[in-house]
Amino acid sequence: MSIETPISGMVKRYLTQVKEMYGDNLFFEDTGISFAIQSSFNTSLTEFEKAINKCQKCPLGETRNKFVFGVGDPSAKLVFIGEAPGRDEDRLGEPFVGRAGKLLDKILSAINMTREEVYICNILKCRPPDNRTPQCEEIETCLPYLETQLKIINPKLIVALGATAAHTLLSIKTSLGSLRSKIWKWRDIDLIVTYHPAALLRNPNFKRPAWEDFQWIQSIISRN
Ligand code: URA
Repeated sequence: MSIETPISGMVKRYLTQVKEMYGDNLFFEDTGISFAIQSSFNTSLTEFEKAINKCQKCPLGETRNKFVFGVGDPSAKLVFIGEAPGRDEDRLGEPFVGRAGKLLDKILSAINMTREEVYICNILKCRPPDNRTPQCEEIETCLPYLETQLKIINPKLIVALGATAAHTLLSIKTSLGSLRSKIWKWRDIDLIVTYHPAALLRNPNFKRPAWEDFQWIQSIISRN
C-alpha cells in the first residue's frame, strides 16, 4: 500500500507537469530524483543513450571516436560489466567486440547463452587513450551513467569482469582472487566477480577458475 502525503502529492504533480512539458527524454543525471523521473515515466535504455551519447563531461569525450553505451537485452537477468572500450569497441561503438569480446562470446556459448540474451557494458563509456587504466576522476564522472543503466535493466545478477569493475562497484580494493566465489551486492542486486577475458588471454592459468565461475553463473541464472 502506498500512502500519499502532501509532499509526495506535490512531487507527483510536479513530475507529471515535467513529463507533459518535456516528454520522456528528460534526465537529471546523477541525482536520486533523476531515477524517480526515469522509472515513473518508463524511460527506456534507448532514450537514455540518446540523452547522454554526446557526453563531454571528461576529456575522453574529445579523444573517443564512438560512445560505447552497452549492448544486449534491455531486460536481461544477467549483466556483464568490463572496464572500458578498447580500440575495436571505440571504432564500432559496441562493447567487447575485439579479441577479449570474442572470448567472452565463446564462454557465453559454452554456458548456452548469447550476447543478445544478456546485457554487456563497461565502467567507462569512452576509450582511454592507448587503453590505459581508467583514472579515478573518469570513473567518478561516468559511473552515474552505469548506475542509471543498471536501475533501468534491474538484472538478477551482475558480473564484474576484472578488477576495475569489481573495485568500482564494490568500493573495495582487494585482490581479484579474494573477491571471487562470493555473492556480493550492488545496491540490492547480487554481484559476482570473475576474471576479465583479456586476463584469460594473457594468462591461461586463469581459464579453469574462470570456467568454474561461469558454470556457477549459469546455475544461478537458471534457478532465477
Ligand atoms: N575490455 C573491456 O573492458 N571492455 C570492452 O568493451 C572491451 C575490452
